[in-house]
Amino acid sequence: MKSVKDIEIKEGEKIFLRVDYNVPLKEGKVADDTRIKRTIPTLEYLLEKKPILILCSHLGRPKGKVVPELSLKPVAERLSEILGKQVNFSGEIIGENVINRISSLKPGDVLLLENIRFHPGETKDDEELAKNLKNLADTYVNDAFGACHRKHASVHSLPRFFDKKAAGFLLFEEIKNLKKVRENPERPAIAILGGAKIEDKAGIIEGLLEIMDKILVGGGMMFTFWKAMGKSTGKSLLTEDFIQKAKELIETGKIIVAEDALCAESLESKDAKNLSKIPENMAGYDIGENSIERFKKEIFSAKTIFWNGPMGVFENNNFKKGSMEIAKSIAEATEKGAFSLAGGGETVSAIKLAGVKEKFSYISTGGGASLEFMEKGTLPGIEALT
Ligand code: 3PG
Repeated sequence: MKSVKDIEIKEGEKIFLRVDYNVPLKEGKVADDTRIKRTIPTLEYLLEKKPILILCSHLGRPKGKVVPELSLKPVAERLSEILGKQVNFSGEIIGENVINRISSLKPGDVLLLENIRFHPGETKDDEELAKNLKNLADTYVNDAFGACHRKHASVHSLPRFFDKKAAGFLLFEEIKNLKKVRENPERPAIAILGGAKIEDKAGIIEGLLEIMDKILVGGGMMFTFWKAMGKSTGKSLLTEDFIQKAKELIETGKIIVAEDALCAESLESKDAKNLSKIPENMAGYDIGENSIERFKKEIFSAKTIFWNGPMGVFENNNFKKGSMEIAKSIAEATEKGAFSLAGGGETVSAIKLAGVKEKFSYISTGGGASLEFMEKGTLPGIEALT
């Protein structure tokens, strides 16, 4: 895979740059610009060569329709502030008007296209859409690590139509850091998994079992493991279809499931209890005190730590302790020499809330993408570039 440094870029050359500006918006403004800022080194490097830069991203899941609240316009405004130069915005994604608009741009100009997922062809990996996008540019660059696990047109079909294509600095940085964990981690190496959706993570857990010495499981998904162990889970989150798989995973002997949970009748309840058996009228919303201590012990003896998925409903003050303690402990272990890598929107929000973001060795801009990379060692968007 070539880097942008390996390709010659001429003044006025039209570059299609796929980025992942899938950022949270609040009241029509970008609420967290981390993903935008992480692409700036690539943008600045390219802009020094004075090409015409055509940026493309998705935002949210509009399902092939125009959803005004998911317009990338606020992103163009924020990017403009960060770059300190005008970022033009095109409400259309393909077609004559866009081609004419690009022809009117000058070397060094930047144009952000509207949310590519407003077009129904994007998520279908549609070749027609890819051909139309190809007509906009001479060169293709991908710096959208967070979207590289998607077989979508702008990530997967499109680069195949370009002879000249390369990866941006962010994509390289992500791969380098994930490989550090995946290929030759300093041991003991542990993964900490949480979050609600166990069904998305089944294959990934199997992949991680081959790399990691231990996998610690907390968050909503832990209760499916509890069920597999015959423990009562009350009205906690449960994925029935995964109970059998959870049993098989436990049999590997490498999985440490949180042993207790902070439980309550509802998220609003102030009367939460640490339990290892949950009565019918209660649900677990965070890992419990014993689990926090056990997980900390594992974290402090690990040399490599991969974290994806919060330990509980950390947005709620009553149930944030597990995620906060895990975030702070990983930060402390990192200061003592461990290599730590975290990914996933919610996980990163929890780390920020704990105030320890700067202390992690690496924060990935991709949630699903970093997990899938850990499982497979490559991603469709990376393959399409090679
Ligand atoms: C992400 O936020 O993980 C990426 O931007 C991919 O978004 P998606 O899960 O909607 O494909």
